[in-house]
Amino acid sequence: LSQLLIKKPNEPPLVFHWFPLVGNTVTYGMDPFKFFFENQAKYGNVFTFVLLGRKMTVCLDTTGNNFILNGKIKDVNAEEIYNPLTGPVFGKDVVYDCPNSKLMEQKKFVKFGLTQEALRSYVDLITAETEDFIKGHKAFKGEKGIFDIPEVLSQLTIYTASRALQGQEVRNMFNDKFAALFHDLDMGFSPINFQLNWFPLPHNRARDNARETMIKLYSDIVRKRRSGETKKESPDMIWHLMDCKYKDGTQIPDHEIAGIMIALLMAGQHSSASTISWVLLRLASRPELVEELYAEQQQALGDHLPTLSHDDLPKLPLHAQVVKETLRLHAPIHSIMRKVKQPLVVDGTNYVVPAGRTLMSSPGVSAQMGSYFPNPSVWDPHRWDAENTKFEETEDDEKIDYGWGVVSKGTNSPYLPFGAGRHRCIGEQFAYVQLQTILVAFVREFKIRNVGGSRDIVGTDYASLFSKPLTPGTAEWERRSKA
Ligand code: HEM
Repeated sequence: LSQLLIKKPNEPPLVFHWFPLVGNTVTYGMDPFKFFFENQAKYGNVFTFVLLGRKMTVCLDTTGNNFILNGKIKDVNAEEIYNPLTGPVFGKDVVYDCPNSKLMEQKKFVKFGLTQEALRSYVDLITAETEDFIKGHKAFKGEKGIFDIPEVLSQLTIYTASRALQGQEVRNMFNDKFAALFHDLDMGFSPINFQLNWFPLPHNRARDNARETMIKLYSDIVRKRRSGETKKESPDMIWHLMDCKYKDGTQIPDHEIAGIMIALLMAGQHSSASTISWVLLRLASRPELVEELYAEQQQALGDHLPTLSHDDLPKLPLHAQVVKETLRLHAPIHSIMRKVKQPLVVDGTNYVVPAGRTLMSSPGVSAQMGSYFPNPSVWDPHRWDAENTKFEETEDDEKIDYGWGVVSKGTNSPYLPFGAGRHRCIGEQFAYVQLQTILVAFVREFKIRNVGGSRDIVGTDYASLFSKPLTPGTAEWERRSKA
């Protein structure tokens, strides 16, 4: 208790709170960005607050992003923070349930599996899946209607991601047992699990059963493929992982292939479903932009709009900018955490944080600062017209090779929706392919606008590690006449 009440010399300022255990949990939990901006105004870029009795030191702006995300492995650690939550969902020996060097190898396997050839085939699969989905969905009967964007798009995201990345067998199972398993497993990421990961919550048993069943299902798929019973129709991540070897020459064991696939399913689903929902919600509030996107497709691909291919995506820059701008305001991961391994001086300050402290980074804050983005709260995909590469890593940046990829050693970019450093996302290209392909299909098929034509936008649900739009988020659709 005394540790919570007494501010040590040289420690970052402590955000005011009435009750030591509750601390700032409620204000942070309701709207982390509002909380970060208010305290940034009061205390500067570095401050400490109390989340469920635990001290968190937040480091904001580009210096703070860099300090935490590019921290050295001897200084900061991700797995000790994340594994109590992710371990029981992904299973043993993968991601944060293993030494960081093993995670780096696993990231390499996945990154190298996302080849141009694979991404090319994913555009075809995702397009076909989206068209089938729209044709078969009860919300899209007739010529016009309304739909709940987050609900419908979260279904579509999981179908498209599983068809492309996870392969045919998993996609086929999604119509029945896999969806229920996914739901039970996903309960492991509910807010209460994050807050009380030590507590035997009633739904943990369903989560553990679902994980074990899923691991068996994936292992079965691998066995049937290895024995030749299942033939290869198109590349997917399971085929790729079956061929990979660790540096010591060993194959990836079946339960690890299963764990990696579960991790990809979860990581991709929550972030991509939230992003594509925000994309359509934002567009529904600015229907003139939907028409601009349609015009972009006609201009770049011809009035008859041929089936989309991977080569077409670079010809549609406004589509990419819509995704990019949406990620600026609605980065699905609002808080990134690391545990301090030894006392550290926070970059750009005299503050010292002790070993054991949790550091919190939020690149979503720098992405919403007026000093980098004029009128930061305005969603405007055209702001990237002139600034397309302004915040990208440059050739001159000092680089570092993590085994799975070469990225800037330090980054001054205020725009980091995919993180930075050794834990940086490896799903960025896949996410862009998936999101743009779905966007192209929706814009071709429908005109979309908010019910009654309002320009309002729904609020954000920040209760979990991944934020998402509050539901319902309904919009009107009208089928385009096919000339
Ligand atoms: C890591 C964002 C999609 C797989 C991350 C991180 C961020 C992020 C911010 C860094 C987390 C940290 O430093 O603690 C996003 C966003 C996505 C997206 C915004 C979509 C719009 C995906 C997809 C996949 C994926 C589709 C899988 C195919 C991963 C993996 C990591 C990661 C494996 C590495 C975790 C680590 O090294 O600790 N992502 N992600 N992500 N993401 Fe993504």
